[in-house]
Amino acid sequence: MSALLSKYPPVDPILDVGCGSGDLSIYLAQLGYQVVGVDFVEAAIATAQARLSALSPEMARRARFQVADALKPSLLQQRFGAVVDSGFFHLFNPDHCDHFVDELAFTLRPGGWYYLHAFAIEFPVPNVPRQINADELKSRFTAEKGWCIKEIQSVEFLSRVAPPVPAICACIERLPS
Ligand SMILES: C[S@@+](CC[C@H](N)C(=O)[O-])C[C@H]1O[C@@H](n2cnc3c(N)ncnc32)[C@H](O)[C@@H]1O
Repeated sequence: MSALLSKYPPVDPILDVGCGSGDLSIYLAQLGYQVVGVDFVEAAIATAQARLSALSPEMARRARFQVADALKPSLLQQRFGAVVDSGFFHLFNPDHCDHFVDELAFTLRPGGWYYLHAFAIEFPVPNVPRQINADELKSRFTAEKGWCIKEIQSVEFLSRVAPPVPAICACIERLPS
């Protein structure tokens, strides 16, 4: 995702959906952005907050972490210039993703960006992330629904606990109406 963030620089404030222990939020704060990270796992938010607090006071002012349902960012009652999503969208079935895309449309300011990083591989076992491909993104994020896909990339998903997994990255604009 860092390549897309460099190519299409986000606008503050940035919402990190399913932020986990805060890697991406902290990375963005270190780049100088204002970030809100949300996750529904209290322990993950506590870890993210502790990691942030261990940095400089200036850094700590740039980000905040909150326990919240990231499928319903409208409940945060704040609009964002960008939403970053690393490993969140692919957790949900198509119906939930329909709802989440509607929430994104509400949450992003006109002209805002949605950055997605998701698995591009289907695993033959239950209860794992599902495959997200370019066709799905093109059918969900259409111009008729007020979206413009700026770029889709084939990448890898790197983690500390497993080998690299084929992945997809996208940068999608919420068109001004
Ligand atoms: C694969 S992890 C990705 C974590 C982080 N974005 C990263 O790249 O390291 C998915 C995260 O989404 C969170 N999550 C799943 N469903 C959620 C929901 N409805 N609301 C908030 N967080 C959720 C999980 O708790 C987990 O931290």
